[in-house]
Amino acid sequence: METTTLPVISRSPITNKEYPLPVNADDKKGIDSFIALHPGKKVVIVQGLGFVGSVMGLVVANALTEEYAVIGIDLPSASSFWKICSINEGVFPVLASDPKISQYYQRALQKKNYYATYDNYAFSQADVIIVDINLDVKKQSSFNDDVEDYHVDLAPFKKAINSIGQNCKPDVLVLVETTVPPGTSQKIVKPLLEENLQQRGLPVAELKVGHSYERVMPGPKYIDSIQNFYRVFAGTDDKSSDAIEKFLRTVIRTDEYPLTKLGNTNATEMAKVLENSFRAMNIAFMVEWSRFAEEAGVDIYEVVNAIRMRPTHKNIMLPGLGVGGYCLTKDPLLASWAKMNLFGSEGRLHESERGVHINDKMPLYAFEYLQSQYKDPLQGKKVLLLGVSYLNDVGDTRYTPVEGFYDCLETERAEIALHDPHVLYWEEKDVWVNRDLQELLQTDYDFIIITTGHKEYRNNAELIARLLQKPAAFIYDTIGVLTNEEIKALAAKHTVKVIGRGDL
Ligand SMILES: NC(=O)c1ccc[n+]([C@@H]2O[C@H](COP(=O)([O-])OP(=O)(O)OC[C@H]3O[C@@H](n4cnc5c(N)ncnc54)[C@H](O)[C@@H]3O)[C@@H](O)[C@H]2O)c1
Repeated sequence: METTTLPVISRSPITNKEYPLPVNADDKKGIDSFIALHPGKKVVIVQGLGFVGSVMGLVVANALTEEYAVIGIDLPSASSFWKICSINEGVFPVLASDPKISQYYQRALQKKNYYATYDNYAFSQADVIIVDINLDVKKQSSFNDDVEDYHVDLAPFKKAINSIGQNCKPDVLVLVETTVPPGTSQKIVKPLLEENLQQRGLPVAELKVGHSYERVMPGPKYIDSIQNFYRVFAGTDDKSSDAIEKFLRTVIRTDEYPLTKLGNTNATEMAKVLENSFRAMNIAFMVEWSRFAEEAGVDIYEVVNAIRMRPTHKNIMLPGLGVGGYCLTKDPLLASWAKMNLFGSEGRLHESERGVHINDKMPLYAFEYLQSQYKDPLQGKKVLLLGVSYLNDVGDTRYTPVEGFYDCLETERAEIALHDPHVLYWEEKDVWVNRDLQELLQTDYDFIIITTGHKEYRNNAELIARLLQKPAAFIYDTIGVLTNEEIKALAAKHTVKVIGRGDL
């Protein structure tokens, strides 16, 4: 791949290596030589090499019953170009605790069947195109607003679909896996692709378009959550659903996890956002019960665990610092937006929007609770935050609730140190994170706050012993990882508080 240096770089948060951005998007030579290595194989393109797309590409490169030549395509932008270079240089662009990621990647490297590029020319070679790009919701509301104020901008998504339509073969299968507002495949993707084909003087009759989703779970079961899990799909017509089914059967273990075919893509798109909205609502619902437990001197964890014994209530959620990640923070809003903007309804999904808003405010509550328990000013106090990612055992900081909490501490001018075993650089805050807990614990802190439930902080006798050697501090568990025994031991020396536990 030939590149000319511009004064703009893309830096890998994994290796810290810097890549100058390419001046133009020409990688035809690279793409052609890759395809020449794989004569007779179908070319599958994954558009978007993020947390979902890069791993989906890996799964397709390790398909079960067919050999594919896989091309991942992303943007030559400062935030994403490094992913392209990284894949081609033998460093997978996602850090995860799942050992299968490295096994699958090594196999793909041996087979030389996973190439990455930024050149849309690649679409002209594809038999199947999987769309795994982001579709963002911009939130305008703040901690103090009562309702959720947001904006769904479809322009970047449409631009991505146009980049396919301007290059693809007329009989390509375009499988949308991006979480989209219900109605998108039928009302936006298919018409845009057809319009582009017509403008190029090509027929539209053989074009195939559909939508499919899974629940990608970054963490120890990353690959399994894509390959060994139930998947829902639909086509925009019969030939599209047949083509999607045929393709998915070659990459997903459908003998153990049968595919679920729904009547149309509006239904699959709705299923995806309803599933995530259900989880978001479940958490929002628990927020007021946590407050109630604190006031009533009750341990909410004990209560929830008792309820979870019953099979009918196994998935009741626990309280915490807040809801983060890319999906639960926006998917109910995508649904509400679609209701009004793609289906002409006058009413929004009030409860779902309210659920998102309650969840968005959780870090503020966690901070206010801290202030209610520690009345002195926080200015100049030394604070150690344990965890910055939004979820235990993954290195994803997108929309992490730790951010709102961190901002509150910064406003009060506390001195903040950060630990996270999975994050080297916190992109959204533009700060470096220390991965070495032992080194951090050489300092004495006024506050040690557990902000993510990483396994390094759970049942870690050594950590508790180290904390007991420290001068008296305020230990605040916003996740509920400390056990009763650990709390008892720590409370002999420190002040210990846990969100949702009014019994301490
Ligand atoms: N994380 C999950 O569990 C999960 C599960 C299912 C679906 N999804 C959905 O999958 C989609 C992708 O999620 P993600 O977590 O991988 O997001 P991400 O932000 O990590 O990755 C998206 C990638 O797409 C790239 N991109 C954007 N526009 C592009 C374009 N025009 N051409 C090529 N590349 C482009 C971005 O540069 C980025 O690298 C989202 O819609 C998400 O909601 C996520």
